[in-house]
Amino acid sequence: MKGYIATVSLALAVGVAADRTFTVYNGCPFTIWPAIFTGAGTSMPDYATGWEAAEYTSVSFSVPDDWTAGRIWGRRDCNFSISNPATQCADGGCNGGLECDTDGGTGIPPATLAEFTLGQNGDPDYYDVSLVDGYNLPVAITNTVGCGVADCPVDLGPDCPAALIGPYDSSGFPVGCKSACEADLDGDPTNSPNCCTGDYDTAATCPSSGVEYYSYFKDNCPNSYCYAYDESSGTALWECASDLAADYTITFCPSSSEV
Ligand SMILES: *[C@@H]1O[C@H](CO)[C@@H](O)[C@H](O)[C@H]1NC(C)=O
Repeated sequence: MKGYIATVSLALAVGVAADRTFTVYNGCPFTIWPAIFTGAGTSMPDYATGWEAAEYTSVSFSVPDDWTAGRIWGRRDCNFSISNPATQCADGGCNGGLECDTDGGTGIPPATLAEFTLGQNGDPDYYDVSLVDGYNLPVAITNTVGCGVADCPVDLGPDCPAALIGPYDSSGFPVGCKSACEADLDGDPTNSPNCCTGDYDTAATCPSSGVEYYSYFKDNCPNSYCYAYDESSGTALWECASDLAADYTITFCPSSSEV
């Protein structure tokens, strides 16, 4: 008994890692293929890096509370019999096929990303729904402890500006809306006010007013992260005290009538 108590005390003293539970729910009225990518040098969620999700189904898995540089997104209209990863899915596809490579298996834009950096040692959790790499599905991040909701609940495909719209599915429906950076509207991605690169690579030199079609994304999805320096909007990057140990739910098509 004495040994048991000693073990518990030690565990409390060093703040033993507590896992979080993440749930990924497909609220879309069609199959999607969710994917997970973990940045280098951080431990990984206890789940496949990609799977097929039928409409209105969910999966839950545990995520280490030191998960940083993590992202979850959805892929549309996939066929993994196609050998070229660039064309396996209409958008969001990755190197690796159904399960994305743990090294370099990020999603092909346009893709709406749910991004996470879980906090350690008193730092908060940070999370956002990013449209920096464009849009391909409505996404919401909710949590169990009353922290803010990051979301882009609107289907940005049909009304996407002509310069950004697409790709399209086999029926001709737009399943994506590219960012101005990805669409290469200003012709030089290495020195671009749309990409915040070159002469425009700081928050001061890359205001949202210089990003073409920023307002299309931000007006429709104010609680999402709409360009590289969108933090100044105050509704792009979300925080949650890590000692609350939030569990998170990522919902695709949070209001499915929209898609
Ligand atoms: C998937 O791709 C393979 C290889 O190109 C093709 O033969 C097959 O018809 C495709 N399946 C569907 C359902 O489109």
